[in-house]
Amino acid sequence: MDWNKQYRDRILKSPGEDYLSQVGHTEQGQPITQEQFENLFSQIVQILDIGPDDWVLDLCCGNGLFTQRLAKLAKGAVGVDMSAELIDIARSDHAAPNLSYYTADARCIDSLPLASDTRFSKVIMYAALQHFQEDDLRVLLQKLIGLTKPKSVYLIGFIPDFDLADRFYNTPERRAERDRRIADGTDPIGEWWKRDTLRRCAREVGLDCMFEDVPAGLHASCYRFHAVLKRPESEHSG
Ligand SMILES: C[S@@+](CC[C@H](N)C(=O)[O-])C[C@H]1O[C@@H](n2cnc3c(N)ncnc32)[C@H](O)[C@@H]1O
Repeated sequence: MDWNKQYRDRILKSPGEDYLSQVGHTEQGQPITQEQFENLFSQIVQILDIGPDDWVLDLCCGNGLFTQRLAKLAKGAVGVDMSAELIDIARSDHAAPNLSYYTADARCIDSLPLASDTRFSKVIMYAALQHFQEDDLRVLLQKLIGLTKPKSVYLIGFIPDFDLADRFYNTPERRAERDRRIADGTDPIGEWWKRDTLRRCAREVGLDCMFEDVPAGLHASCYRFHAVLKRPESEHSG
C-alpha cells in the first residue's frame, strides 16, 4: 500500500485549511465536527496528563493538528511524519516556538538529529498504527525506550480493532468495497490489530499495556480503541 500517495491525494482533494480531512479524521466523507475533535483532544491530554515539564514526541503527527496544541501545554514537542507534504503544512500552519517537525519514518526514530540530552516523557502515535506491522511496532517500542524517561507514558491511539472489524464492514456492499480497494491498492484503513498483539509487544520491552475506549459520539468509537503503555508500577517506586 502506498500510504504516502494516499495522503498526497487527500491533500489534493482537501487543500487549504481542511486539516481534518487531510489526515482522515472524517465520517462519511465529511470532517468530524469541532466538538468531536475537542473530545478527542481532551481525552489525549487526560490520558497523557501533559504538563509544563513534559517533552512530547508526536509520531506520525500528520499536519500537526494535535502536535501544536500539545506543544502549548508542554515544555517542548517534536512531530515526526514520513509525508513531506504533511510536514510542510505542519511547519507553515501549526508551528510553535517550542516545537520542531521532522520528515522521517517513525521506524527510524533513533536516527533523528535530536540533541543528545533530549528525553521525552510523553509519546503519542495517534490514528497511525494501522500503517504498521507487528515487527515494526516491536522495533519502534525498543527504540522509544532509549529516547524516553523511565516514567514515560506512550499513547497509541485510535487503533482499528481486529475483533470489531465487522462493525465497520457491516454490509455485503462494504465488504465488497473493502476487497475491491485492497485489490487496487486504495484500502482506506490498513492493518487491524488484536489487543493481545499489543500486549505481547509491550511486554517484550517491559511495558504494561492498558486499553481505553475512543470517546462516544464518533462512528469510529465502535471499532477503534486506544492502547496506553507504561513502565510497571513496581519500577516506579525504585
Ligand atoms: C491518519 S494520519 C494521523 C495523523 C495524526 N496523528 C492525527 O491524528 O491527526 C496517519 C499518519 O501516519 C503517517 N505515517 C504512516 N506511516 C508512517 C511511518 N512509518 N513513519 C512516519 N509517519 C507515518 C502518515 O503519513 C499520516 O500522516
